[in-house]
Amino acid sequence: MASKYLGINRRTIITGSSAALFVSAVQPVAALENSTKEALRLLAGKVFYSSDRPGRWKGKENGHVPLIKIDKDKNSILIRAATNHPMQPNHNVIKHVLMDENLNFIQEQIFDQQFDMPRSRFELNGYKGRLYIGSLCNLHDNWINWADV
Ligand SMILES: [Fe+2]
Repeated sequence: MASKYLGINRRTIITGSSAALFVSAVQPVAALENSTKEALRLLAGKVFYSSDRPGRWKGKENGHVPLIKIDKDKNSILIRAATNHPMQPNHNVIKHVLMDENLNFIQEQIFDQQFDMPRSRFELNGYKGRLYIGSLCNLHDNWINWADV
């Protein structure tokens, strides 16, 4: 009925509704990606640190940015991370955290200051995309690096 008054036919309304549903289903994902990227931009160098955004810890990049090595065998992925940082009683790396491309937690490895070096291994199956490793120093905060699988 309303279509008569708007000058459009039923097919146009259905097509338009489908397009609207598609757009509304896609927008949250795009909005999430944009908001994640925007949040990363705002937080980098302030809440977490990276080699290109060391913030107040400028000069400490080499000892805090986790190095990442990825080995892939078909669907099997081995992620190894290492932080070139001492493990002293009053200054050490507490843990490594593995996150997916949207910074969702996947796994973590907590280090024992007395017995461990800040090196971790994670195994994933069938993952594709960017992975982030966070390395948390008890004095110099959280440092992040990434690799693409
Ligand atoms: Fe440190």
